[in-house]
Amino acid sequence: MALINEHFLKLQNNYLFSDIAKKVNSFKVTHPKEKIIRMGIGDVTQPLAPAVIEAMHKAVEDMAGKDTFHGYGPEQGYPFLIDAIIKNDYASRGVFLEPSEVFVSDGAKSDCGNIGDMLRHDNSIGVTDPVYPAYIDSNVMSGRTGVLEDGKWSDVVYIPCTEANNFIPELPSRRVDIIYLCYPNNPTGTTLSKEELKKWVNYALANDCLIMYDSAYEAYIQDPDIPHSIYEIKGAKKVAIEFRSFSKTAGFTGVRCGYTVVPKELNAFTLAGERVPLNRMWNRRQCTKFNGTSYITQRGAEAIYTPEGKEQVKKTIDYYMTNARIMRESLQSCGLRVYGGENAPYIWLKTPAGLTSWKFFDKLLYETYIVGTPGVGFGPSGEGYLRLTAFGDRDDTLEAMARLKKWLL
Ligand code: MLT
Repeated sequence: MALINEHFLKLQNNYLFSDIAKKVNSFKVTHPKEKIIRMGIGDVTQPLAPAVIEAMHKAVEDMAGKDTFHGYGPEQGYPFLIDAIIKNDYASRGVFLEPSEVFVSDGAKSDCGNIGDMLRHDNSIGVTDPVYPAYIDSNVMSGRTGVLEDGKWSDVVYIPCTEANNFIPELPSRRVDIIYLCYPNNPTGTTLSKEELKKWVNYALANDCLIMYDSAYEAYIQDPDIPHSIYEIKGAKKVAIEFRSFSKTAGFTGVRCGYTVVPKELNAFTLAGERVPLNRMWNRRQCTKFNGTSYITQRGAEAIYTPEGKEQVKKTIDYYMTNARIMRESLQSCGLRVYGGENAPYIWLKTPAGLTSWKFFDKLLYETYIVGTPGVGFGPSGEGYLRLTAFGDRDDTLEAMARLKKWLL
């Protein structure tokens, strides 16, 4: 008799974005003629950069030649991509990494979930609230979260980020072993200054705590004073793993490529208190369970770092950030309280007239045919908020704002 991992039974029926997709599909059945504008899941809409397409075509040609064909690649990623990452994403900001500290993967979501393979089930978890649901759900699967009571997992420390504290998380009042930070933040679109981030690194250093730092949205930072990497903070290599993604940076949501940095200085502990380097463990895990990202994909990712690639990718990011500005201004002109959208592609808005997140989501869908993401789906402190993404097409974004203005004013 095969026994299941019963922690899976604690999960709510659907992952947040699958739940929303189901609701939108039912709406489509009853309203087949209405044009839906999707501002829910943060999926990109603009095509890949020409430099990426060209590099991928060339890589396909390589696969066609006996002498240039590639079979299994290194599980950690090809040196050509790792070198480009280190030089462009880190050395340019004064952060020096060794190639063996960077692990190329099929994206940040898988890595954020898989990283838990290395960690005991009884670590205590801290999350900023609202939070990207994959962090919580993957910990539920590993049995680290306890039971769900009134929308909160009993063994998770929730650190509220709301209007009341200007979306700045306070250090936890209860000890946590592992803390998840995502900046620029999904879902609120807010950021942390260097000083604020330093507080977390110092907390982790003082408490032997591990920080999971998701910086999937760093390419959207406009303000030069906001850190792009946690390793810009002194001491962070001793306490933090950093996740990066090409999904939002370069439109790779359908291509799948990202990377994770596990510094050599970073240790966790055995029950007996012995320090163990996580870099070695993650390498062992990847070699066993992962055969690397495809050669064609990695050649595409490498092209992002060429001069043409950089320019083309920046143009697309500017396009989405112009959407974000249009959305902020339109929503504010309707009297809504709006956050984010200045250094991130997400707009976090306070629902009008005290509506709950789901009530506002339903009204928005049924009365304006616009899909958002209910804030409470990201955690209890998200109640009374809704998230909209700026990843839409310009015409759709303008139309959505016109519909909202007509509806709200
Ligand atoms: C989101 O909408 O929060 C993201 O697109 C989800 C993801 O990156 O997996």
